[in-house]
Amino acid sequence: MSTFGTLFRVTTYGESHCASVGCIVDGVPPGLRLTDADIQVQLSRRRPGQSNLTTPRDEKDLVRLQSGIEHGVTLGTPIGLLVQNQDQRPHDYSETDFYPRPSHADWTYLQKYGIKASSGGGRSSARETIGRVAAGAIAEKYLKEAHGVEIVAFVSSVGKIHIPTTPPTPPSNGDEDEDAATDVFTPEYLHLLKTITREIVDKDLTRCPHAETAEKMTQRIIRAKESHDSIGGTVTCVIRNVPSGLGEPVFDKLEAHLAHAMLSIPATKAFEVGSGFKGTEVPGSRHNDAFIAREGGAGGLATTTNWSGGIQGGISNGQDIYFKVGFKSPATISKEQATAQYDGTPGTLAARGRHDPCVVPRAVPIVEAMAALVLMDQLFIQNSRVAAATLLPRVNTLPPSMVLPPRTPAPEQ
Ligand SMILES: Cc1cc2nc3c(=O)[nH]c(=O)nc-3n(C[C@H](O)[C@H](O)[C@H](O)COP(=O)(O)O)c2cc1C
Repeated sequence: MSTFGTLFRVTTYGESHCASVGCIVDGVPPGLRLTDADIQVQLSRRRPGQSNLTTPRDEKDLVRLQSGIEHGVTLGTPIGLLVQNQDQRPHDYSETDFYPRPSHADWTYLQKYGIKASSGGGRSSARETIGRVAAGAIAEKYLKEAHGVEIVAFVSSVGKIHIPTTPPTPPSNGDEDEDAATDVFTPEYLHLLKTITREIVDKDLTRCPHAETAEKMTQRIIRAKESHDSIGGTVTCVIRNVPSGLGEPVFDKLEAHLAHAMLSIPATKAFEVGSGFKGTEVPGSRHNDAFIAREGGAGGLATTTNWSGGIQGGISNGQDIYFKVGFKSPATISKEQATAQYDGTPGTLAARGRHDPCVVPRAVPIVEAMAALVLMDQLFIQNSRVAAATLLPRVNTLPPSMVLPPRTPAPEQ
């Protein structure tokens, strides 16, 4: 459906070529300072027509707050956000009156609803993600102000060109465990995850923070464009300063919600968290994240490594959360493809219209937004549990294995 979240709820609306797109955000705490500009920043990073690496469809995507706010402060009531669709050219899509685009959503929408928007991708178009990005910007603002949460995504691969992440595999000595005894990611990549900022990400049009790789990615995307084809890629996201305790086992584990959120973004095909698929090759003795006393001396535990990606048992553990999302090569290409018309007549489709040769540079703020929506919702759910528990009389007779050790006050500075 078109609504996401439980206590922080976002409903998006709009199709590729209708009058406007946007969303209603319900559950925004009252008293948050908020302006159009707070939201516009992320919409401008998402908008089409940013560079020669994206679709030339020219939309400014200027957002207007419609409700839920007065004197620049939220009222706690639903916030409406609206962006006009301006560069509408439905006639670009006339050949798709006859042909469902291979691997796009034309045929499945028709199968499901028995009717579909006459032009563009309708609801399956990436225009829909404007509402997500706008709502995500509000969530992010709250998360930053309340907990110092930082969410940064970047392009980690385009086609077969990957940012360097893994150490070279040592020569095999015939022992499978020994062969795998290498860390999942290099210290340089782990440092990048710790320090990456949006300013660094935006230095290159690809949104890849590794200059040498970014240059190769640029050439790869241009090659796809010039050959009337398209190419896929991955976006990696890191979330820092995440409060521990977020996520609702067993069916609503935090990584399950992140996967749900990410795989609801158009064109996504894959998701992995922490060490991901690569982690499956490393023995437990190297993969386990050993505990250590948290810095500051006030009690609590941190981990020496973070192959778990900040989530254990479906619950955030206070370490950085990081995950990777795979995006397919966009379906609409102007290269001729042998396919069939809606009525089954075989034919050849060369789709006209303006399309992204690769979606990952524009997908970066969408991934950040969906991460913010998940965290915001899970934070509110956990806060409500904690608030309810504090009203109960304290039980002091439980064995130590059932409760957290008492906290020692932090030493005076
Ligand atoms: C930022 C972004 C831009 C996109 N641009 C295009 C595009 O120009 N052409 C296209 O065919 N698909 C594009 N897509 C993907 C389609 O929206 C999506 O692939 C299509 O609806 C089919 O759905 P599915 O891939 O989720 O199965 C884009 C996706 C994103 C996230």
